Amino acid sequence: MDLPRIFTIRESGHRIHNPLTPVKLAALGEALHLAPGTRVLDLASGSGEMLCTWARDLGFTGTGVDISTLFTEQARARAAELGVADRVEFVHGDASCHVADQPVDLATCVGATWIGNGVAGTAELLSRSLRPGGLMLIGEPYWRLTPPDEETAKACNATGIADFLRLPDLIEQFQDLGYDVVEMMLADQDSWDRYAAAQWLTMRRWLDLNPDDELAPEVREQLSTEPARYVSRTREYLGWGVFALMKR
Ligand SMILES: C[S@@+](CC[C@H](N)C(=O)[O-])C[C@H]1O[C@@H](n2cnc3c(N)ncnc32)[C@H](O)[C@@H]1O
Repeated sequence: MDLPRIFTIRESGHRIHNPLTPVKLAALGEALHLAPGTRVLDLASGSGEMLCTWARDLGFTGTGVDISTLFTEQARARAAELGVADRVEFVHGDASCHVADQPVDLATCVGATWIGNGVAGTAELLSRSLRPGGLMLIGEPYWRLTPPDEETAKACNATGIADFLRLPDLIEQFQDLGYDVVEMMLADQDSWDRYAAAQWLTMRRWLDLNPDDELAPEVREQLSTEPARYVSRTREYLGWGVFALMKR
């Protein structure tokens, strides 16, 4: 049980595995106006940057669950580095059926709604860990511009146009599920670049160090094609945001 290696190669230099910058992530945490001691469950926690920095800056405590052994190790190391290892823990595991032992104040899934087979299932999964009146965060892509055809959608790493909604429709989907959308933090094209373009240098340096690795041809192919694909497709068409929800 692990994340395919190609992802951990591409994102080995990332602390945040989504298109928010550290500044946006910090602003989102502050915008929630939650008290020190807030208990968090973060499903698909990646390298733990959100939980660790919010523990340091806002006094939150909590647990992150992620399927990647490498990212989970990085999260534990980051917690130690930031001096919050006594307040946050990181569990290696499949988050798709993970429910907290004790209800939490803030339940999050930032950039992995496939663990609940989409937005509705992920909201339901998170709600099983949330105390009444608690806050939920869901990070999800949306179409900035609707792709003109299915081929363009697939070039944005979607399976098709139907994978994602336009932003007003995504907001409506949350509301139709019975939630108030109470805050949000959106990526922009520059912050997308920090997520996407930052992978190119990581891939190039990895290739220089690992020319004979079995994944070297795949990484070489991705490094050659990704910049043009990204600037003409993902950067133009795909938006991304984290949405704060409260049950009505
Ligand atoms: C786009 S990254 C987001 C990570 C983190 N939330 C962040 O924003 O930095 C998606 C994460 O989902 C994790 N993941 C994928 N499938 C998972 C599963 N079934 N259970 C737990 N984690 C999973 C990956 O290992 C990866 O860390």
